[in-house]
Amino acid sequence: MRTILVLNGPNLGRLGSREPDVYGSANLDDLRVMLAAEAGDDVTIDLRQSDDEAELIHWLYEAVDTQSPVILNPAAFTHYSYALRDAASLVTKAGVPLVEVHISNPHARETFRHTSVVSAVATGVIAGFGFDSYRLALNFLTHQP
Ligand code: DQA
Repeated sequence: MRTILVLNGPNLGRLGSREPDVYGSANLDDLRVMLAAEAGDDVTIDLRQSDDEAELIHWLYEAVDTQSPVILNPAAFTHYSYALRDAASLVTKAGVPLVEVHISNPHARETFRHTSVVSAVATGVIAGFGFDSYRLALNFLTHQP
């Protein structure tokens, strides 16, 4: 049984009520159910959310130690957290895939969202497809050897 970590950064715990015009009206429980259904029986979806940078960093260490692939929505940390970027780099440098995802398309929004300090160390980036961004990332990861 393989575990895929689905890590979500600040304010994503408020999905469902947070800016539904941008992020939709579904919440993280809906996302967990959707991904678990998509994953099939031999993959466990371990979906977590934190507003705390340190906690997210420690979860990325855990991904290295357990060799667990990661789907990471760094939320606003995307745009300025060098600490999170360095932890994400530890994951991919360890040979563990990490897909950066975004619900919205940050490039179509405010200028400060056009920069990701994480993308350069991610295996790949998927943005702008709502919760399907996570589904596409999961599809990629479950087709890895
Ligand atoms: C986001 C985009 C970020 O700019 C924003 O800060 C978020 C969510 C997204 O999933 O579209 O919190 O990562």
